[in-house]
Amino acid sequence: MKNQNYYITTPIYYPSGQPHMGHAYSSIIADVFARFKRIDNSNVYFLTGTDEHGLKIQKAAEKASMDPLSYCNKISMVFRNLTKKLDLSNNDFIRTTEDRHYKSVNDLWNKLIKSGDIYLSKYKGWYSVSDEAYYNSDEIIEKDGIKFSSFSGSTVEWVEEESFFFRLSSWEKKLLDFYKKNDKFILPLSRRNEVINFVKSGLKDLSVSRTSFTWGIKVPDNNKHVIYVWLDALTNYLSALNYPDVKNKMYKNFWPASLHVIGKDILRFHAIYWPAFLLAAKIEPPKRIFSHGWILSGDEKMSKSKGNILNPLEIIDNYGIDELRYYLMKEVPHGSDGSISLKNLENCINSDLANNYGNLCQRIFSFIKNNCKNKVTKNNTKSKNDSNLLDKTKILMKNLRVEMDNQNLNNYIKSVIDISFLTNKYINDEEPWKLKNTNLEKMNNILHVCLKQIAMISILLNPIIPRATSKVLDALNIEKKSRNFSFLDGEEIIPDNIEVNNLDILFKKIQK
Ligand code: MSP
Repeated sequence: MKNQNYYITTPIYYPSGQPHMGHAYSSIIADVFARFKRIDNSNVYFLTGTDEHGLKIQKAAEKASMDPLSYCNKISMVFRNLTKKLDLSNNDFIRTTEDRHYKSVNDLWNKLIKSGDIYLSKYKGWYSVSDEAYYNSDEIIEKDGIKFSSFSGSTVEWVEEESFFFRLSSWEKKLLDFYKKNDKFILPLSRRNEVINFVKSGLKDLSVSRTSFTWGIKVPDNNKHVIYVWLDALTNYLSALNYPDVKNKMYKNFWPASLHVIGKDILRFHAIYWPAFLLAAKIEPPKRIFSHGWILSGDEKMSKSKGNILNPLEIIDNYGIDELRYYLMKEVPHGSDGSISLKNLENCINSDLANNYGNLCQRIFSFIKNNCKNKVTKNNTKSKNDSNLLDKTKILMKNLRVEMDNQNLNNYIKSVIDISFLTNKYINDEEPWKLKNTNLEKMNNILHVCLKQIAMISILLNPIIPRATSKVLDALNIEKKSRNFSFLDGEEIIPDNIEVNNLDILFKKIQK
């Protein structure tokens, strides 16, 4: 499919502290899908940003002895800089303190008031500032006199105040119908079941405003209240498309969003509240929510409060950004939690990047430099090994688009790295170095097969490790506009006569 519009988002991050590996993880996943879709000829809009209102941020600013906006300006910049460090290809970076966002939130609020979905009453119940979430009494546990949410483990406090409510209870059936009609709205499926069970167990109306603090978007016509930070935050996905101007090109092209990438801790907000708000406002809900698992350190969630953080910036400085991206995408299973460690990172760099893909490229490029003056010519004699490799490659590539369309990155990476492994094996079996003086034609053919494999693997890995693969594609003299997946549809990727450039080392093997 050509030139499909594809709108993909990351969660917007709380600038309540420094970015950590969990943030990097959400962002890199979204970036990989965005890059993949671009290479597959879609017209992609990729959004990330910061979520700057609410009590949590107000408290963080107070702690830093700053006013909330100056505080947000400072930390939001740190998140913006992180996008560069992570090589994110985002088209936009939204802040919920921007005018464009205020306009959208105001409009959405007014629509919900007009439709009768918001009413004024009094809230009495548990609230977690750290999660910015309300919890039911049956979700609260007590330990040493302190109350916690059994869902997230965060402390909760009792809140009683006047509040506007969203009639979430009246959306129960309509949400269940919506999930039924859109059976891949939530992936992976285990998460979908979790959400459906939660909705089936009964939804209570949701408090959507607060009066006990001020740092937020004021409720139109009632300045005593600020809008609940999640109703505010979720709307960022519309604000970036200039909503409420629904006639503008951005909105027309990109709404409904194709994919919101989120962590499993914020699934309820995205899979229940968000479609309910949108349906109530007669706006089409997004097409998909992909909920990834947690990055664990040992068997605990990596988080600031637990003090078990691996700092992404340090890892990038010590090992490189492609290395971090590859490791996180490969190591953490599809939608599940995954434990990460420096030891496993080093093993992964050595086995997959240095010894497999890196070695494949290096050995072929240096052989061609030393023996062929960087020029290779294909001829049409095909050996049994050639056909064998090409057939196996075809089989491994067959499902790649489907894997990506289902956000199954692990299977995708496994198949591509298997192709690289098979190609290394092909070289070992064919031993082109033995043909230098006896059969140049056959030697050229083998090298041509290898270059073609390297070109395909590099394009396939490009969304995950953009730096290294771009070096290889540059060395292969493949034009930028030809770096796409048309070879998956049978198009030739390199010419019969090819001249390559020298290739520098891609990945340093880590000595232990
Ligand atoms: N501001 C909200 C999101 C609003 S989206 C409209 C928020 N922000 S956050 O900064 O706390 O977290 C953002 C994302 O980082 C979440 O998707 C969360 O799952 C992810 N991670 C934070 N820690 C994580 C791990 N240890 N592992 C993986 N991701 C986790 O929630």
